Amino acid sequence: MSDWYRDFANSGFGTTITKQLGLPRPAVLRRHEPGQPLLPGPAVIGSAGEGRLRDALTQLLRTEGIHVQSPVTADGATDGEKPAAVILDATGLRTPADLAGAHDFLAPAVKRLRATGRVLILADPPSDADSPAQAAARQALDGLVRSIGKELLNGSTANLVFVPEGAEDAIASPVRFFLSGRSAYVDGQVVTLSAADQPGSEDGDQPLAGKVAVVTGAARGIGAAIAKVMARDGAHVVAVDIPAAGDSLAAVANEIGGTALQLDITADDAPQRLVEHLRERHGGVDIVVHNAGITRDKLLVNMDAARWNSVMAVNLQAQLDITQALLDAEGVLNQHARVVCVSSQSGIAGNRGQTNYAASKAGVIGMVRAWAPAFAERKATINAVAPGFIVTEMTAKMPLGTREVGSRLNSLQQGGLPVDVAETIAWLSQPGSAGVNGQTVRVCGQSLLGA
Ligand SMILES: NC(=O)c1ccc[n+]([C@@H]2O[C@H](COP(=O)([O-])OP(=O)(O)OC[C@H]3O[C@@H](n4cnc5c(N)ncnc54)[C@H](O)[C@@H]3O)[C@@H](O)[C@H]2O)c1
Repeated sequence: MSDWYRDFANSGFGTTITKQLGLPRPAVLRRHEPGQPLLPGPAVIGSAGEGRLRDALTQLLRTEGIHVQSPVTADGATDGEKPAAVILDATGLRTPADLAGAHDFLAPAVKRLRATGRVLILADPPSDADSPAQAAARQALDGLVRSIGKELLNGSTANLVFVPEGAEDAIASPVRFFLSGRSAYVDGQVVTLSAADQPGSEDGDQPLAGKVAVVTGAARGIGAAIAKVMARDGAHVVAVDIPAAGDSLAAVANEIGGTALQLDITADDAPQRLVEHLRERHGGVDIVVHNAGITRDKLLVNMDAARWNSVMAVNLQAQLDITQALLDAEGVLNQHARVVCVSSQSGIAGNRGQTNYAASKAGVIGMVRAWAPAFAERKATINAVAPGFIVTEMTAKMPLGTREVGSRLNSLQQGGLPVDVAETIAWLSQPGSAGVNGQTVRVCGQSLLGA
């Protein structure tokens, strides 16, 4: 399932041909490897107005062993190497006129950004603004960051984190994620933090050590990748799938030293069986990943009730029922629990032939948003990830033309890998991600669809 076109475009001959013909040149993305530094080079931090996060950001990066450069000066002087990250603290914005400061910092810094670099902007949310002018200035960053994402080349990404007053302690985990190789295929995204207690520090290479994680649909595809990344990050994984997938489920569980649980998540007794299993075998659960999903595509006018009902049952109702059962069962959902629900780009943009699927996946986004306050009260979180075009066995079977077009319609000009979805879910599952709640993070390379 290698990307032949990307490999060709990055070969000596291919580079010349694609340049001459003006064809897309997708980069080899920087993906996370355990033990790898957060960034392959220095970072430069600037501010627009009197920002309140600059010192904390500098401190955070220094703790990670990253050299922090001063911004490029008016005469163009710099202090050395090209930056691997350009970070703007825009928490000082008061009016649209202050955005000129953002431009003055970003333009020369982004020009020097090295390949697979990161642009990250932190700002206050527009919803907390004191005046329409302040809200306008903050909202302007949304358009700015999405446009930078579309202009960047060579596998670089741009993302925005809104940090309300009081949520300053929550920035470390998202900043680390967006700078690291874990976010390789997350581009043009906006995440809004909320104030939350930060449960202690975590082990850098094994942030999920000691955690019990349930992953549904873990026998293959994205679910198997999630199970592997969770185990790599230290979690004990309870891998769930239907009995018909028992052999591959057992293979995944054995490979990662986890447990296999054969369960059709739509069965009437599924929530109770899962709750009992977790209580008896593991004494509770810390992380629940609702990944199992199906498609039964047909145009709406031709869609029978069976197609509609089966997709709703697996993709949405099972997530609701299992989550409710875990909340209701005393002492099963551990403190600081993390629930991550798999949605889809189709749930945001819609897709021809997928009224059932898109409705179910949009429903997941609504569910997560609505449940977030109740989870916050329990010091827990619930979030969604919405994958775009992910290269799986399923997409490998698509006709070449459809696959090539589908996989290139994003700022990174390539499909994502199951591991990209898994890394984002593993990040949301970390103890330090306490301030990310009720959010939907797209893993779509800044898809042009429904962006
Ligand atoms: N592949 C993509 O490009 C893509 C894009 C957007 C969203 N998604 C979503 O990501 C998730 C995983 O997708 P995938 O491509 O790996 O799919 P997949 O079909 O390869 O794997 C889904 C797994 O879920 C299991 N499953 C189905 N019904 C189940 C049930 N009732 N009980 C328990 N397990 C059940 C299947 O047996 C299978 O192992 C799905 O929710 C899908 O909608 C995928």
